[in-house]
Amino acid sequence: MILNLTVLPGDGIGPEVTEQAVQVLQAVADRFGHQLQLQHKLIGGAALTAVNDPLPEDTVKACLSSSAVLLGAVGSPMFDKNPGHLRPEAGLLRIRRELGAYANLRPAVFFPALEGSSPLRAELVRGTDIMIVRELLGGAYFGQPRSIEGDPGSRVAVNTMRYAEHEVERIARVAFDLAMKRKKKVLSVDKANVLECSRLWRDVVTRIGKDYPDVKLGHQYVDSAAMLLVQRPTDFDVVLTENMFGDILSDQAGGVVGSLGLLASASVGGKVGLYEPVHGSAPDIAGKGIANPLGAILSAAMLLRHSFSLGKEAAAVEQAVSRVLSQGARTADLAAKAQSPIGTAEMGRRVVEAVK
Ligand code: IPM
Ligand code: MG
Repeated sequence: MILNLTVLPGDGIGPEVTEQAVQVLQAVADRFGHQLQLQHKLIGGAALTAVNDPLPEDTVKACLSSSAVLLGAVGSPMFDKNPGHLRPEAGLLRIRRELGAYANLRPAVFFPALEGSSPLRAELVRGTDIMIVRELLGGAYFGQPRSIEGDPGSRVAVNTMRYAEHEVERIARVAFDLAMKRKKKVLSVDKANVLECSRLWRDVVTRIGKDYPDVKLGHQYVDSAAMLLVQRPTDFDVVLTENMFGDILSDQAGGVVGSLGLLASASVGGKVGLYEPVHGSAPDIAGKGIANPLGAILSAAMLLRHSFSLGKEAAAVEQAVSRVLSQGARTADLAAKAQSPIGTAEMGRRVVEAVK
């Protein structure tokens, strides 16, 4: 099979971690007889620096003409003072929209080898296997109007949280379909005691749930869900939630399983799937060669599974990650006090070896 990908390294640690993910994809392609075809394009701060646009037209075209997109991270403090549309993040939001990627799947799985890396006691976190299904194209991230106006000292800012029924319906179906292949549990997370958007959300999710009588549906307010996530992470199976709540809870889930650096994601539902680690650009450690590439590598595994239906290949990557972790490989974010950490490239190399 020809694996025709656009790679968007982006900013901060993005280029370092995607480089390792590409090496792993190459190793999988070699082992299973596929052919990797890559084109690298600019996004985020890297694109702003080059052409003053966080998502150049050329990048959009390349993504739309490939079979899947692998992204590193976007965001850089260099652009903190820029207006919204000239920030790196605007490029990420636009590519998600251009690709129609409304369903963001963020698995948070506990690796037994990492008992020492979670801040939680091993008996609490052992067995955690959560799939966060985050709505990605709606809510406050995209709602209009949005603005910041007025003179310093008396400025007023506005964002709009907005959801249409069909947007809730389609993401709910993704969550229920996934639950059918898992433990058949969906927890829908909202703030229906305060927000109209959430009351609509709960209403629609409940209606769609009737089409899935085998799935146990629960509802939880986001504040209480955040607490339960650290108290009883193993109770969770599929978590269905809107854009911003999903953003927050997925970082928290990363902390629960040991490090945000491990979390992968797939943004699907549109023409072309977009795969990116959940961690951001981490400007504080960029360029030091110490970032954890496993989130990017596991995102590449999701790419193989979701965009190419290459389940065996995806599993080979996931098993390789599991193996290097049980052999004691730890980047700085995972290393316990007594362990000496390895760098980004060395972690990538070990996964490549384990894939071969
Ligand atoms: C994420 C990130 C992005 C988001 C930022 C970089 C715009 O935090 O993918 O979780 O909020 O969606
Ligand atoms: Mg986030």
